[in-house]
Amino acid sequence: MTSTLLSSPVLGRSPSDATVRRTGAAGLAAALGAAAPHWLHRVRYRSAGRWTHLLPAADAAAVLDPSLHADLADAQVWLLSWLPDQGTPLHDHGTSAGAFTVVRGTLTERVVAAGRTGVHESTADLTTGRVRHFGPHYVHTVTNTQSEPAVSVHVYTPGLSWMNTYRIDGAALVRTGTERAGVDW
Ligand SMILES: [Fe+2]
Repeated sequence: MTSTLLSSPVLGRSPSDATVRRTGAAGLAAALGAAAPHWLHRVRYRSAGRWTHLLPAADAAAVLDPSLHADLADAQVWLLSWLPDQGTPLHDHGTSAGAFTVVRGTLTERVVAAGRTGVHESTADLTTGRVRHFGPHYVHTVTNTQSEPAVSVHVYTPGLSWMNTYRIDGAALVRTGTERAGVDW
């Protein structure tokens, strides 16, 4: 029997077709995590401060399926390593959305949101393979609370332009600083 669905010219479009489904930052982060054997050799560990590396788009494309290249055009990919006790301050990602995948070890994420009823927090341990995705204005810390080094890959759409840092003051989040691309990293 001939399947009209499988032979349909509509459903049979090639991956390069402009209508190909887009997976966004979460799909890219998951795919980059799965491709980690192709880039883990780049990772360094630095005791003086967290090691971060902006992965050139061409290098990211080289380890990804061509069907994801359209998503990559709008994104920025960072590789990060985390020695035990290394972590971030409380921060957002400006107007960028994004996603990250833990590729080695476990990272502890603390998410903080300020609302009418005050500041709400949640904490989760993200083990190897976990993907976390988030929208603009998402505020969190990420820390390696374990005894083994960790590695993660982060995707931002659009690329990071600035990041605000915060402290919790009673029932509010108070901005303590802003770091800008080209100035602070
Ligand atoms: Fe972050």
